[in-house]
Amino acid sequence: MSKGSTREIVVSGIRSTGILHLGNYFGAMRNYVRMQDDYNCFFFIADWHSLTTHPDTRELSESVHRVLAEYLACGLDPKKVTLYVQSDIPEIAELYLLLNMLAYKGELEKTASFKDKVRNQPDNVNAGLLTYPVLMASDILVHRAVKVPVGKDQEQHLEVARNFAHRFNHRYGLEVFPEPYAFNFGQDLLKVPSLDGAGKMSKSENQMATLYLGDDDDVIRKKVMKAKTDNGPTEPNTPMPDYIENLFLLMRLVSDNATLLHFTDAYNNASIRYGDMKKALAEDMIRFIAPIRESARELEKNKGYLHQVMKEGADKARASASATLLEVRKAMGMMYSFLP
Ligand code: TYM
Repeated sequence: MSKGSTREIVVSGIRSTGILHLGNYFGAMRNYVRMQDDYNCFFFIADWHSLTTHPDTRELSESVHRVLAEYLACGLDPKKVTLYVQSDIPEIAELYLLLNMLAYKGELEKTASFKDKVRNQPDNVNAGLLTYPVLMASDILVHRAVKVPVGKDQEQHLEVARNFAHRFNHRYGLEVFPEPYAFNFGQDLLKVPSLDGAGKMSKSENQMATLYLGDDDDVIRKKVMKAKTDNGPTEPNTPMPDYIENLFLLMRLVSDNATLLHFTDAYNNASIRYGDMKKALAEDMIRFIAPIRESARELEKNKGYLHQVMKEGADKARASASATLLEVRKAMGMMYSFLP
């Protein structure tokens, strides 16, 4: 047996809704890169999922290319992992149809992401929004994945995917699907906070509070310097307010230990100057983001190469997906024209 076929299967994806941000990187991408040598990885661009908000499809196509360029710029090697676009794999849609028969309106309406979307786009509560977790389960189960590297916000979707895997196996009496789990190396799932001290970084909310992997140096400086702070603690060892803790969390992601220790001590001695801390954080952020930004910009221009990566990825992903669908059809006894 080849090494590839004995390794645990990993699936994850990112929606093509614009340039990736720091939350996407530290919640998902960093794990993708770390996993590529030791697992059988399928990483994709979730363009069907982006359709729930009715984007301009020309912009969507640009976004797909951009996300692929970012995958590569962050260090994913298409020789080691399978990189593809969701809509190139029709087997995912077939599995989605079948799993929809096992998904109940009540449970789908209860998911936090659906409730958020109903709140944010009350005029466009389409069936695709409701069944978003079914499509996501199909993405994962189509390769029979066990580990799914994602950020904290996707945890509930993984629980739903496990339910569907279990329900399918139980209903059709065969263990076709393993139960998939959200994954982060050795720790809890991550939530990268936004710079305004409220909620998580996200593509759609406050742009000034989100650091994108495509931001220019001066934009990064401006955003970090605007991050919410206060006059600083007046007594040693004061508990940190959330928005200050968030700044330290961001610093922990991109700065070295000495810098982190310096400002932690300064906070604990009540001598911290947030202006200095933000300046240091901004420069470390630039050191982290600039090489990814420049490399993604170069790769984005090379449409021929991106096309080749997408094509080879789609071929590999379809081979894996159609093997699963064969097992699914066998389990369901729906093999009509396949039979000799
Ligand atoms: P998406 O495109 O919103 O986000 C992609 C990945 O980035 C993570 N993420 C974060 N992590 C930490 N802190 C943040 N502030 C933050 N913001 C985003 C997300 O958790 C995610 O891992 N439904 C998915 C895409 C998807 C998918 C799948 C993922 C479709 N099918 C199958 C895994 C497996 C989504 O909308 O991610």
